[in-house]
Amino acid sequence: MSTTDSTLEEPQAFLPHPSVAAYAEISGMDAYRALVAEAERDYTGFWARLARETLQWKTPFSSILDESRAPFYEWFKDGTLNASYNCLDRHVEAGNGDHVAVIFEADDGTVTHVTYRALLEKVSRFANALRTRGVKKGDRVVIYMPMSIEGIVAMQACARIGATHSVVFGGFSSKSLNERIVNVGAIALVTCDEQMRGGKALPLKNIADEALAMGGCDAVKSVIVYRRTGGKVAWHEGRDLWMHDLTQAEADVCEPEWVGAEHPLFILYTSGSTGVPKGVQHSTGGFLMWAAQTMKWTFDAKRSDVFWCTADIGWITGHSYIAYGPMAIGATQVVFEGVPTWPNAGRFWEMIAKHRVTVFYTAPTAIRSLIKLADSDPKVHPDRFDLSTLRLLGTVGEPINPAAWTWFYEHVGHGHCPVIDTWWQTETGGHMIAPMPGATPLVPGSCTLPLPGIMAAVVDETGRDVPNGQGGILVVKRPWPSMLRNVWGDPDRYTKSYFPEELGGKLYLAGDGAVRDEDTGYFTITGRIDDVLNVSGHRLGTMEIESALVANPLVAEAAVVGRADETTGEVVVAFVVLKGERPTGDVAIRIANELRNWVGKEIGPIAKPKEIRFGENLPKTRSGKIMRRLLRSLAAGEEITQDISTLENPAILDQLG
Ligand code: PRX
Repeated sequence: MSTTDSTLEEPQAFLPHPSVAAYAEISGMDAYRALVAEAERDYTGFWARLARETLQWKTPFSSILDESRAPFYEWFKDGTLNASYNCLDRHVEAGNGDHVAVIFEADDGTVTHVTYRALLEKVSRFANALRTRGVKKGDRVVIYMPMSIEGIVAMQACARIGATHSVVFGGFSSKSLNERIVNVGAIALVTCDEQMRGGKALPLKNIADEALAMGGCDAVKSVIVYRRTGGKVAWHEGRDLWMHDLTQAEADVCEPEWVGAEHPLFILYTSGSTGVPKGVQHSTGGFLMWAAQTMKWTFDAKRSDVFWCTADIGWITGHSYIAYGPMAIGATQVVFEGVPTWPNAGRFWEMIAKHRVTVFYTAPTAIRSLIKLADSDPKVHPDRFDLSTLRLLGTVGEPINPAAWTWFYEHVGHGHCPVIDTWWQTETGGHMIAPMPGATPLVPGSCTLPLPGIMAAVVDETGRDVPNGQGGILVVKRPWPSMLRNVWGDPDRYTKSYFPEELGGKLYLAGDGAVRDEDTGYFTITGRIDDVLNVSGHRLGTMEIESALVANPLVAEAAVVGRADETTGEVVVAFVVLKGERPTGDVAIRIANELRNWVGKEIGPIAKPKEIRFGENLPKTRSGKIMRRLLRSLAAGEEITQDISTLENPAILDQLG
């Protein structure tokens, strides 16, 4: 029987290990309940206290929460601060300049240690270079970089001068990069010659050149290139500049730009239920406060920790828990360029042992694939490595099935490291529903309870609370400081997507379904309720993939759905109608491959459909609406038990099944 079968165990509660509870800042459920009660008693006072305690403000705030433009909430708006100052200078000023900020391990295993003082100098030089290139407060800079010290430096340097960064994941195609550069109105792009992953080089600069040549990018005056491999790149004189040339010429001190707490720190694109990704806009003060506070609460992290989050800086997890959170609390972190399976599937365990990692935060998909590989090759099994420095494990991005949870707990955490299942989103800025390691009894498969101050609830379609035990829609009832502030350039979409009228216009709609346990009130996330898929913890809009498919000259119509998958959570299944005849046999295989690669080029390899089925038509109602629920059943290979009386063309089900 497979160890990843989610039906293996009955849920079982794990109490905090005494060693964890003794060490934890929040120890015992009474301490957790006291914080929840504090937030309920004096909501704004609670948040103001945390914001004062976690951050150093240049000008203290007097306004805590301004709801006058709801749902465009403003937090700490008259306070000023700088995110980079809070992540770097204050630790150096406190005498911790020699503390290691980043342990960088390259794809080939080369290790570089960077202290807080050295990182501050690098960030200052690059910030000065951006200023010399005319980048000012409020300008947007797109960062298309691999996992690297330089990627983090670029983000922090933007924060230092008040420029708003928008990081685009290095796996996105030139077209996706172009759309994001245009939408955000970038005036500079930071990239690198080539990215190294799993021993292979990927030509990021070439892809960036293609993106810039696609049109709409005239505002981009500087393309700053980090030399990673020395591979050959095309050069556009006057526009393209080597990062090392620019920074060499600059001073290693740079006065930070003090910005208002509401100043946009970054914009990060994510998928929604339309074909166009949304630019999720985050603030400086509220975002940074929660990144720091959740490091302390959810991970119970201290300066002495060696924290390792395996996410990429191209996703929100890499913003909150690599580029900002660990540094906001002055901890040491591991940053990894490569992939978990190269040169073999023991890489994560070897690195935990080598760098003496204490807190390890990763994705369920990675765990599930490493379980499979460890089962087939004992040499890469975590039991073979010294993981004794670990004290806490975390997961993010998708539900973790109890069997994978238990394996992680037993074989990586050796039964004494809590597994912290963190539910949150690009839009929430930081953890929302997650256990507190020294307090919350853990139940595999549940992200347990909302963090103090987070008013999460499960409601029905009209916005009314549903009783525990009954599934419903996950919402947050009150604004919180790290929430998104807007959809860049599209306030209407912000309001409609996140504060819909159907729910009364005041509840934040997460887009997930959830159910609370009848006895404990614990939350279990039941998956997206919109047309968003979750493949390996990455968010993909079905409409985006459909738009990419129909842009191919062969395609007349396409519908995309998700199918549950043991390793990646979900996979993409596409139903396609071609303009010509319905292909069969080898022709169908060839065209399916062609279309898969096409989607890879249009969006990025992560969006490639796992399976493509061809039909002469799609199942539709008489009014022409595609019946997606039928497609979901067909993709899953289930028998159709739904009512198909409104289906215009029932014969199509045999063809697509
Ligand atoms: O469906 C939920 C799922 O991932 C979505 C958010 O995706 P994204 O904005 O890309 O951020 C991922 C990293 C925070 C959510 O709407 N999700 C995230 N964490 C969990 C989860 N589903 C279940 N359990 C989780 N712990």
